[in-house]
Amino acid sequence: MATSSAPILAVDGGRPAVDRDELRRWPEITKADVAAVVSALETDIGSAAGKNVTLLGEEFCAYTSRKYAVVVSSGTAACHAALIAAGVRSGDEVIVPALSFQATFLAVQQCDARPIIADIRPDTFTMDWGDAARLVSERTRAIFPVHAHGLVADMDAAQKFATRHGVVLVEDACQAMGATAHGRMAGDFGVTAAFSLARAKPWTAVVGGIMSTDDTDSYQAARYLANLGERRQPLAPGDLRAYWCEYPGFNYRLSASDAALARSQLKRLDAYLARARENLAALCDGLDGIPGLVVPHIPSDHVPSVAYARFMVDPAVFGWTGHPRECSDRIIWALRAEGVMASRWQLNPLSAMPALRRSTAEPYYPGMPQAPLRPVDRTLHPVTWHVLDSSFILGEEPYMFHVQTDRAMTQFVEGIRKVFEPAHMARILASDDYKPVRIVPPIPEDIM
Ligand SMILES: Cc1ncc(COP(=O)(O)O)c(C=O)c1O
Repeated sequence: MATSSAPILAVDGGRPAVDRDELRRWPEITKADVAAVVSALETDIGSAAGKNVTLLGEEFCAYTSRKYAVVVSSGTAACHAALIAAGVRSGDEVIVPALSFQATFLAVQQCDARPIIADIRPDTFTMDWGDAARLVSERTRAIFPVHAHGLVADMDAAQKFATRHGVVLVEDACQAMGATAHGRMAGDFGVTAAFSLARAKPWTAVVGGIMSTDDTDSYQAARYLANLGERRQPLAPGDLRAYWCEYPGFNYRLSASDAALARSQLKRLDAYLARARENLAALCDGLDGIPGLVVPHIPSDHVPSVAYARFMVDPAVFGWTGHPRECSDRIIWALRAEGVMASRWQLNPLSAMPALRRSTAEPYYPGMPQAPLRPVDRTLHPVTWHVLDSSFILGEEPYMFHVQTDRAMTQFVEGIRKVFEPAHMARILASDDYKPVRIVPPIPEDIM
């Protein structure tokens, strides 16, 4: 085995490359955030439709140049509202990419529609429109691309696809607040779009979501859905709420204090996005050209919001002949020992989820008979399997790129270079000490 002149690996007892005290945790809560929340609690908490919620919608519209925003309680609710507001109805089919958070397909099921899963592109990890074309049927109502990792999917192709097949384009922009493609912001392309304010997002209130649109009727549809079927309006002093339920709907409203936190965080969004982009560029510059490692590809004229960054590894370069997932697991193990907080985001394509392998899409109910699941089919969505087997993620919560220092990025580069140094990689891939990262709860099927 080749010997190495690089510092000893942390998994072998060497000093970790990253000084853990250097890492900043996300989200950052400032005194201004605390003051905004306290003020909302003192003055605005009495009503979920209070002034902070209204102002949040207006400020979101000003930031994104959208006409309408419906503030809701989560990105999942925003996805549901975006689909309903785009006209998705019971029995329709909606094409979604195989790499996403489960909310993307759950929102389709909440419309009593059927999610149809398309493969992704190997370079941008977003919807493969060629594969999606294969899946179009007369029941297809909408396409629901995801701006995965905060990179706007190919919206030029999406819009052509929608026109050619007579379907509506809805954007899952939950990870992509502030991301742009050709100067246009995420949310600018579809009839409707969904954003999330969850914790692991570039703009966060820990909970919350927003459905946006330029279409008046879509806006009204989302408001009915999110407000228990009422046409709610701000009440003047002395007015009484009508409690007049016109359509089935849900209580998807956000509290005044959550809205206040979101508004306060929005003031710093540009600074966070700039920091995340600088950090990603520093990593890509520092790691480009390492054999067996592929840095994230950002298509020209795209500016991501950098929800995460996915690095592909090529096991063949290291002479690894086993399963690629074990190779990337071993790399994650060695990187984490160095203090480089490498991780996975999604372990399998959405099509492998049990929720999509039952004959019906009902939620679990007490006494539900446990019908056998359709087996996991690895021949479906081969690119997504390949990507998830052969990659790791950096920049995940609580170590999002939006708050990391230059020094932390320099140390990340050092740690990753150390692990990918050929003699070290040989040792990592041969090690008997390796322990797979624990998955909680364990996934019952063998997804390898
Ligand atoms: C792509 C995508 N869609 C939808 C959601 C759902 O957002 P939330 O967690 O706010 O419900 C998320 C967030 O986790 C997401 O990443």
